[in-house]
Amino acid sequence: MLDTYECIVSKLDVREFSPEKVPAETKLKILEAGRLTGSGLNTQHWRFVLVQGPENLKKLAQDSTSGKWVQHCNFAIVVLTNSSYDFHMIDAGRVIQDMQLAAWNFGVASCIFTGMRVDNLQKDFNIPEYLHPTVVVGFGYPAKKILGRKERLPLDEIAFLEKYDNKLNHQRF
Ligand SMILES: Cc1cc2nc3c(=O)[nH]c(=O)nc-3n(C[C@H](O)[C@H](O)[C@H](O)COP(=O)(O)O)c2cc1C
Repeated sequence: MLDTYECIVSKLDVREFSPEKVPAETKLKILEAGRLTGSGLNTQHWRFVLVQGPENLKKLAQDSTSGKWVQHCNFAIVVLTNSSYDFHMIDAGRVIQDMQLAAWNFGVASCIFTGMRVDNLQKDFNIPEYLHPTVVVGFGYPAKKILGRKERLPLDEIAFLEKYDNKLNHQRF
C-alpha cells in the first residue's frame, strides 16, 4: 500500500504487461475508485466497459490508432462519457486518474489511449450513440521492473506566485 502522495510520485505509464492475472477483487476496487470519483454537477454520466476477453482486447487494439499495446494488457476499461456536458472531458480525466492511482496502489500498472476509430469501437462494443468512447485504460502487472524517471518540467518553469509574470521560486515562499 502506498500513501496517496507516494502513489502519485512513483506512478509511470506502462505499456508492457506480464501475463499474470489481476485478481477480480482488485479489478472491482479499480472500478469502485472510478465510481466514487466526483463529476460535474454529480451527473455521473460516465459508464465503464470492462474488457478482458483476449478476442475483445484484440478488437480494442484494432479499433485504436494510438494504443495497440492494449491487446496485451490483462484487462481494459473503456470510459464512455456524455459529450453533451461541456465538462465531460474533465470528468473523464479525473475518473481515469483515480482508477490508475487505485490500481498502482495494488501494484497494477496502466496506460491510456485516446486515439480510436470511434465508429468501429462503438459498433464492436454495442455502445449507444449518445455515449462517447473518450478514453481507454489498459491495466496489468508490469512486464519488467519500473526503473524510469518522470520526465517533467521543473516547478519553477510552470508555477507562478500571485501573478503570471512572477515565476515561483520554491525557496522563497
Ligand atoms: C490526455 C492524454 C492522452 C494520452 N494518449 C495516449 C495515447 O493515445 N497512447 C498512449 O500510448 N499514451 C497516451 N497517453 C499517455 C502519455 O503519453 C503519458 O501519460 C505521458 O507520456 C507521461 O508518461 P509517464 O507518466 O510514464 O512519464 C496519454 C496521456 C494523456 C494524459
